[in-house]
Amino acid sequence: MADQAHTGTCDIGVIGLGVMGRNFVLNMADHDYAVAGYDREAQQTCSLEKEKSGRQAVHAVNDIGRFCDLLRLPRAVLLLVPAGAPVDDVIQSLEPHLDPGDLIIDSGNSHFPDTDRREAALKEKGLLFMGMGISGGESGARQGPSLMPGGPRQGYDRVGAILEAAAAQVDQAPCVAYLGPGSAGHYVKMVHNGIEYGLMQLISETYDLMKRGLGMAPDELHAVYDRWNREELNSYLLEITAAIFLHKDDGSEKPLLDVIRDEAQQKGTGEWTGLEALGLQVPTFTIDAAVMMRNMSAFKQQRLKAAHLLKGPTPRFDGAKEPLIRQIKNALYAAMIITYAQGLALLAKASQTYAYNLNLETVARIWRGGCIIRAALLEEIRSACTSDPDLENILLDGNLARAVVEREADLRAVVRTGAAWGLPVPGLMMSLSYFDALRSDWLPANLIMAQRDYFGAHTYERVDRAGTFHTQWEKT
Ligand code: 6PG
Repeated sequence: MADQAHTGTCDIGVIGLGVMGRNFVLNMADHDYAVAGYDREAQQTCSLEKEKSGRQAVHAVNDIGRFCDLLRLPRAVLLLVPAGAPVDDVIQSLEPHLDPGDLIIDSGNSHFPDTDRREAALKEKGLLFMGMGISGGESGARQGPSLMPGGPRQGYDRVGAILEAAAAQVDQAPCVAYLGPGSAGHYVKMVHNGIEYGLMQLISETYDLMKRGLGMAPDELHAVYDRWNREELNSYLLEITAAIFLHKDDGSEKPLLDVIRDEAQQKGTGEWTGLEALGLQVPTFTIDAAVMMRNMSAFKQQRLKAAHLLKGPTPRFDGAKEPLIRQIKNALYAAMIITYAQGLALLAKASQTYAYNLNLETVARIWRGGCIIRAALLEEIRSACTSDPDLENILLDGNLARAVVEREADLRAVVRTGAAWGLPVPGLMMSLSYFDALRSDWLPANLIMAQRDYFGAHTYERVDRAGTFHTQWEKT
């Protein structure tokens, strides 16, 4: 445990020494930073003491006053505690031990309005507060996560070097950057998670098509995802998906996946993304479908009853699998691009609405490594944002547009196959609908406007002259 000699020596402190917190402490210590860790649970501080294996500059304490004494002034304290009330509780217990000018960084999956609220409240007390998304799970925290900090610039300037050392590195660049004021960091992390939901749904649909549709066994599925992960679909989520198919259940030796209940849980970041997108009137078809499918999966009892009542087609396939697997791969790649497009379009709108002044090239760059949605594709996206910093939608970039258009027929064919087989593929379907809606130079919204005007005198605009018009429809 720490002795008095170390007072004021630590570069940064971490509150919350669960696996993520401990791993992040060790990660920063590996880059020669002196780090203090605090947790009120003695068991967690003991675990850090064990895991620090002789590192002199790591101090684990369970006295918050002592923890604050260990920190160099002005202090920098990083919170890795569950989002919600625990963040407010920790801030409250921390405040009496801090001095004006000290910095608190909340690294949980906090909802962005909470971040704005906390920053404003702490500012009044002379404290700096930043919201920082951290992605990559436990191993990311240890080996290099993607970090999404926002808040006061002076806060970032103080800890930037530490974060840059601890973050994942891609092409010698750290997967962290100052993103913008206020809740910019937590907002970007929320959208990261919305995209994560979308990609996970899309991958699960391809699994369903190949499992229930093509009758493929886990080892065959492993081989397919493993091959895809070596090609343009290369990504963390494909990599872990391939690995999942090889994992056997300890007791039964069955594939572990086959004994996992088919009811998806969620902590809410996907739903927040969807609600935000609705509020800002940005269409996020695929992300919304992903949230809805998690919700649908949880209606297990209803699904069991409906399985007997609601008869529909069942998959029938007796041809060569390879051509269809190739189509599925292309459909997935196109739908992935479309999903990132939706998330980035939401960020573009949020940046204007909340004055975050986000740079989407930077966002794409720091997502290339460390985080759950890291993918080779993000380099293409980054480069699209570099070529045109004002790009409104990445599907308007020539290269990305070409990549989707080349695969459009396969995406359409796979959606048709899913529908013909009676397998739900809303992520793929919504991605295709987004693509078709975006490329439509005319949409039947004129009829909606006519209906609104008919029943509610809501008026409409005309294509041939300026102004606002209302018609007495019942007389015509
Ligand atoms: C990450 C993850 C991480 C967490 C998700 C899980 O980027 O490391 O997104 O933050 O695992 O929040 O979210 P759900 O429980 O909602 O699936």
